[in-house]
Amino acid sequence: MPLSRLIVKQFRNIKACDIDLSPGFNFLIGPNGSGKTSVLEAIYLLGHGRSFRSSLTGRVIQNECEQLFVHGRLLHSDQFELPIGINKQRDGSTEVKIGGESGQKIAKLANVLPLQLIHPEGFDLLTAGPKSRRAYIDWGVFHSEPAFYDSWGRYKRLAKQRNALLKSAKSYREVSFWDQELAILAENISHWRAQYVNHLKMAAEHICREFLPEFDIQLKYYRGWDKETDYKDVLSQNFERDQSLGYTFSGPNKADLRIKVNGTPIEDVLSRGQLKLMVCALRVAQGQHLTEMTGKQCIYLIDDFASELDSQRRQRLADCLKSTGAQVFVSSITQNQIADMHDDQGKVFHVEHGTIEPV
Ligand SMILES: Nc1ncnc2c1ncn2[C@@H]1O[C@H](COP(=O)(O)OP(=O)(O)O)[C@@H](O)[C@H]1O
Ligand SMILES: [Mg+2]
Repeated sequence: MPLSRLIVKQFRNIKACDIDLSPGFNFLIGPNGSGKTSVLEAIYLLGHGRSFRSSLTGRVIQNECEQLFVHGRLLHSDQFELPIGINKQRDGSTEVKIGGESGQKIAKLANVLPLQLIHPEGFDLLTAGPKSRRAYIDWGVFHSEPAFYDSWGRYKRLAKQRNALLKSAKSYREVSFWDQELAILAENISHWRAQYVNHLKMAAEHICREFLPEFDIQLKYYRGWDKETDYKDVLSQNFERDQSLGYTFSGPNKADLRIKVNGTPIEDVLSRGQLKLMVCALRVAQGQHLTEMTGKQCIYLIDDFASELDSQRRQRLADCLKSTGAQVFVSSITQNQIADMHDDQGKVFHVEHGTIEPV
């Protein structure tokens, strides 16, 4: 579902902005520091309840202001628009409104507004530790398996309790009672993740090859403990090790998506431009797969589109995004960097000193 309208208030350097959007490409053009990334950040916050640039709400709320607002209208069909909104206060409190009803959960916002963000710091999907790759997998599982969100939350709470208990427990018997539910949750979570990666793998490997034909790419899911052993046995067998570490070493919290090109770990082989293209391929594959599985269309946020990409690669990415039919927000410093993507349906916005004006 595309956003037909976006209202942002007191967000970074954006005092107030109210714009009608294209269901296709929306270009944000302006000099450094004008507020382009802030617009993308506002949309991201509307779908995730938090920023991708800072975990501190105080940084995102406009200086001297007490709160920020981001509101949007999601176009469901020609007749029906769903209003959604989030409001964050300096004291950290958050208010979510969906369809005019306040007191809604952020997870529900995330559910109605699936987003894929591609930004210059997003390489950590490929080059950093497994955390962002787990987040990548879990985005897909969240949107395809309704029970995942609650199970994962419950698993994290239980795992935390277990870690606390490890510090005082005299024998495994004191922990084993808690491990029963933990093991069931871990096996379920892992099963959903494995199933998701299995479905996604073909599509992702295919797009990666299209983007980077010179490489053979393989994705492999690692569940966080060895293949042969049930998780409840991992917990009991490793009790002493976990106790000396002070936390549960193996489990879904260690899961990863292992990515290799031509059999070699990725960061040893790809240039920065190639890494960026690979991140784009993985994100677009995930968005396309979501549409295939659920009929939902995600929105792409692409910050600093042109950075690291030559014109041929820009064209490849633009064509691929166009073929998805999704709504796309693209930021760029100059208009000629996005010239190839622009069509009749697209809308260009000029961004300067925190004001966003249609061109
Ligand atoms: N909390 C805030 N209040 C007011 N201005 C801010 C706040 N946080 C950042 N800024 C300013 O907002 C501007 C927007 O930056 P940004 O969106 O990153 O621009 P761009 O992506 O166009 O380069 C920067 O000039 C920054 O100094
Ligand atoms: Mg920027």
